[in-house]
Amino acid sequence: GRVLSVASECVPLIKTGGLADVVGALPAALRPFGWEMRVLLPAYRRLRGHLAAMREVWREPALWGGEGVVYAGTVEGVEVLLLDAPHLYDRDGGPYNASAGDWPDNAQRFAALSWVAARMAREGFDGWKPDVLHAHDWQAGFAPAYLAYGGTGGVGSVITVHNIAFQGWAEATLIDTLRLPRAAFHPGHLEYYGGLSSLKAGLVTADRITTVSPSYAAELTRAEYGMGLQGVIAARGAVVSGILNGVDTALWSPELEPVPFGPKAMKGKTANRAALCAEFGMAEPEGPLAIVVSRLTDQKGIDLLPAVIPDFVAAGGALIVLGSGDPALESAMRGLESRFPGRVAVRIGYDEGLSHRLFAGADAVLVPSRFEPCGLTQMYGLRYGTIPVVAAVGGLADTVIHASPAALAAGVATGVQFHPTDALAFAHALRQLCALYRDRKVWARLQRNAMSHPVGWETSAAAYAALYEGLGK
Ligand code: ADP
Ligand code: GLC
Repeated sequence: GRVLSVASECVPLIKTGGLADVVGALPAALRPFGWEMRVLLPAYRRLRGHLAAMREVWREPALWGGEGVVYAGTVEGVEVLLLDAPHLYDRDGGPYNASAGDWPDNAQRFAALSWVAARMAREGFDGWKPDVLHAHDWQAGFAPAYLAYGGTGGVGSVITVHNIAFQGWAEATLIDTLRLPRAAFHPGHLEYYGGLSSLKAGLVTADRITTVSPSYAAELTRAEYGMGLQGVIAARGAVVSGILNGVDTALWSPELEPVPFGPKAMKGKTANRAALCAEFGMAEPEGPLAIVVSRLTDQKGIDLLPAVIPDFVAAGGALIVLGSGDPALESAMRGLESRFPGRVAVRIGYDEGLSHRLFAGADAVLVPSRFEPCGLTQMYGLRYGTIPVVAAVGGLADTVIHASPAALAAGVATGVQFHPTDALAFAHALRQLCALYRDRKVWARLQRNAMSHPVGWETSAAAYAALYEGLGK
């Protein structure tokens, strides 16, 4: 079968978070199951240089103030479709904004992506007609809606929620501009708190809804996590499912790191730990060396670190933080670093290479999220024997086996979970981490369990394939 995937990010072309990792990994993961996936993305400024070497496959004359042309070809090793519409995407900055605040025309920019996706899917292009359109998050939310309102052309639709916090809200007065039917402006369809939401539009019109973990699928029906859309999700219960993300094991493998290691050869990890401490000018701690690799936002619970790290350091632990985001959290992290020189190190920024060295050398990765649809860094942790300490929410709850007495006795534990996401529970989890670390036999077993826990795409790709097949024609 054939799937047209529609998204705003895709590794290695453009990334602000895990969405890009997942969109980039799916085509290769689905191929063994007989599904051919092509990915449609906006031709952002930094991608336009590739267009000259690509083939034109679609032309859309009226696309919110200019023409849109879709090019097909291989960019940085990935088969993609790029929508070139310079009036919408040829700008400095990230996909959603220049530096602070979103672009004022984001509703139109991503309606354009969704419009073209729906038209190409309905009519076919380049001698290729998809069976399924797969939309990711609010940026592609109008695509299933355009199919539903304008004719599906026999194409099934799926929308995946990677993060319900971003909902693509727009003024109700934009309904005509956004080419949506006024008759559908009621609470059962397009109306959302007096306005429009591209995510809601996708959720009410797509044939299937998925999210990136079974626990998040359940959480999304509750007011604490649904962020206003809980009723919409609950009403569509029968077509909602949770499919865990996988990790691209060709990119994330301890055997491929500068000093390679594996479950039966952990000496390499010891060498990586020493190198990492040297890189940050730290003495090797007697307790666990923990890392955080994260966007620094409220979602990620980063504000809890100043409350729990002093005791962790006193117990012999050390911490390295790599991340960027909220300026207040960035300066809180810098504050920790200057309070605990040689025990806490902070690197503000985005650095893929450093993130690999951190996972290769550290003992534990901390993920104290308030909510986490899936989360990828705890899975990198598992794969690298870098024990995850996670809040028991969403995908974190689904991927880490807590070192409870029962799990330890059964020999299956892979990490530490805590609940709720607050300083008290987090501090308790860090004390447990230190105790586990002191018992060398228990720790070695934890690492072995973690490293043998499957985090690849096989199971989840099979689940997506089954979902697509169920849509039939
Ligand atoms: P989210 O998408 O909510 O940010 P995920 O855990 O799903 O959370 O994905 C985050 C991705 O971004 C992971 O691949 C992680 O390693 C990466 N990442 C986040 N911050 C940084 C950073 N500062 N440097 C390098 N990689 C980062
Ligand atoms: C979102 C979520 C994260 C998830 C990622 C990929 O950014 O915050 O938990 O892993 O999407 O699905």
